[in-house]
Amino acid sequence: MEIPFAEAWKIKMIEPLKKSTREQREQWLKEAHYNVFMLKAEQVYIDCLTDSGTGAMSDRQWAELMLGDESYAGATSFYKFEAMVQKIFGFKYVIPTHQGRAAENVLFSYLVKEGNVIPGNAHFDTTKGHIESRKARAIDVTCDEARDTQLEVPFKGNVSLEKLEKVLKENEGNVPFMVLTITNNTVGGQPVSMKNIRETSELCHRYGVPVVMDSARFAENAYFIKMREEGYADKTIKEIAREMYTHVDAMTMSAKKDGVVNMGGFIATNNKDWYEGAKLYCIPFEGFITYGGLNGRDLNALAQGLDENTEFDMLETRIHQVQYLAGLLDEYGIPYQRPVGGHALFIDADKVLCNVPKEEFPAQTLTCELYLEAGIRGCEIGYILADRDPVTRENRFGGLDLLRLCIARRVYTDNHMKVIAAALKNVYDRRDSITRGVAIEWEAPLMRHFTVQLRRLQ
Ligand code: F0G
Repeated sequence: MEIPFAEAWKIKMIEPLKKSTREQREQWLKEAHYNVFMLKAEQVYIDCLTDSGTGAMSDRQWAELMLGDESYAGATSFYKFEAMVQKIFGFKYVIPTHQGRAAENVLFSYLVKEGNVIPGNAHFDTTKGHIESRKARAIDVTCDEARDTQLEVPFKGNVSLEKLEKVLKENEGNVPFMVLTITNNTVGGQPVSMKNIRETSELCHRYGVPVVMDSARFAENAYFIKMREEGYADKTIKEIAREMYTHVDAMTMSAKKDGVVNMGGFIATNNKDWYEGAKLYCIPFEGFITYGGLNGRDLNALAQGLDENTEFDMLETRIHQVQYLAGLLDEYGIPYQRPVGGHALFIDADKVLCNVPKEEFPAQTLTCELYLEAGIRGCEIGYILADRDPVTRENRFGGLDLLRLCIARRVYTDNHMKVIAAALKNVYDRRDSITRGVAIEWEAPLMRHFTVQLRRLQ
C-alpha cells in the first residue's frame, strides 16, 4: 500500500476553539452590522479572514524570540535578519519595517510623485492606496485569463505583456517603477511563472522602468514554479526564489504571510540610491534603520521563518491542505477561482447566489451566510471592496465578486477543512432560496469594506 501524505510537522502547543449556536451568531452578526471585520474573534469558530499574521510559529522561531537583542541600534537580531534576506533574495540593502504596507509607505514616499503611472498585476489594496494617496495612478495589467474563474491555466497571476507595453509606451518618462505581485492575491492567490517574471522585467527594463516585487507570498509562488513550470522540477525552493529576484530591482515584503511571523515586513534592493532615499523615510515613519518598527526578537523569528518556509516540505504541507479543501468543493460542485491558488479559496459568489442582484452584494451575502451556518469567517473580495468610482461615485460592479477563504499557515487541520466544506455545501444546497442580499447603511469614502455598516434585506 502506498504511504499517504501527512504534514511535515507535529503539534506542540494547542489553542482551544469556541463554538457557538446559530442564535448567538445571528445576534453577533447583527451587532456587527453584517460586517465580519466587526465581529470579535472569539465569536468565530474557524477564522479564514486572512492568512496575514495568523500563522503558527515553529519551536525554532519561538526559541529565536528568547535570543532577541533589543539594542536600539546595531542589534545582533538585525544582522541575523539582514544576512537571511541577503541569502534568500540576493539583495544587498535591507530595511526592516513593521509590515508590508509600511514598506510600501517608506519606499513609495521616495519613489512616487504626483501624476505618475504605476502598472501592476492587480495591486493589493494598500499598494494601490499608497499610490493613489500620492495622486498617482495604479493601472492593472493582469492577463485576461484571470477574469474567467472556471478556466484552468497554471499561471493565472501573470502579467499581460501587451497591456503592460501599452501603459509603458503611453506614459514614457512618467513610470517610476512597475509592481509585480507574487502570488497575485487579488485574483485568487494565483502564481506568476518564471517566464512571465523574466519577460515582464525585460520589457520594463527596455523602457528604462525598474520592477518592484510585492513579495508577500513569494515562497508559495516558487512552489508553483517548481510544480508547474518546465525546467524547475529538480530545483530547490531557495534556488527558484533566488532566480526570481535576479530579474527585478527591489522588493517590498509583508512578512506576515510567507515569513510566518505575526508582524513584520521589509524592503530590499541592490539599488544604492533607492536604499539611501528610502532610509530617510524609514527613520521618521518606522524607526531607526536596524529595527524599523520591529522588536529584536521579531527580527530573529522572521529570519528563522524565512529560512524554514523556503523548504519544500513546509510548502508542500501548506498547499496540500488548500488543495484538499478545493477537492471537497469539487465534490460538492461549488464554483471557485480555478485552479485553486496558494493561500485561499475564492468562491465565485455570482455563480452561487444567482438570485441575489449585484446591487445587493452577493459575495458579502455569502460571507454572512457562511458565518451564520457554522461560525466560519471569510471575507468579501468583491463589489464592496472595490469601493466607488472616484469620479462618478457609483459602485463598481465591473470586477469579480468573490468570497475569500484564507487558510492560516500551520494552524488548522484537515478536519477543519471538512467543516468549512460541509458548511459551504449546506449554504450551496439552499442557494435558490436566498434571494435578497444586504444594503449599505454607512460607508467610509475609501477602503470602505473594513468599517462598512450593512442592513439585511429580506
Ligand atoms: N501586498 C500583498 C500582496 C498583500 O496581500 C498584503 C496584505 C500587503 C501587500 C500588505 O501587507 O498587511 O503586512 O501591511 N494582505 C493581507 C490580506 C492583509 O489579507 O490579503 P501588510
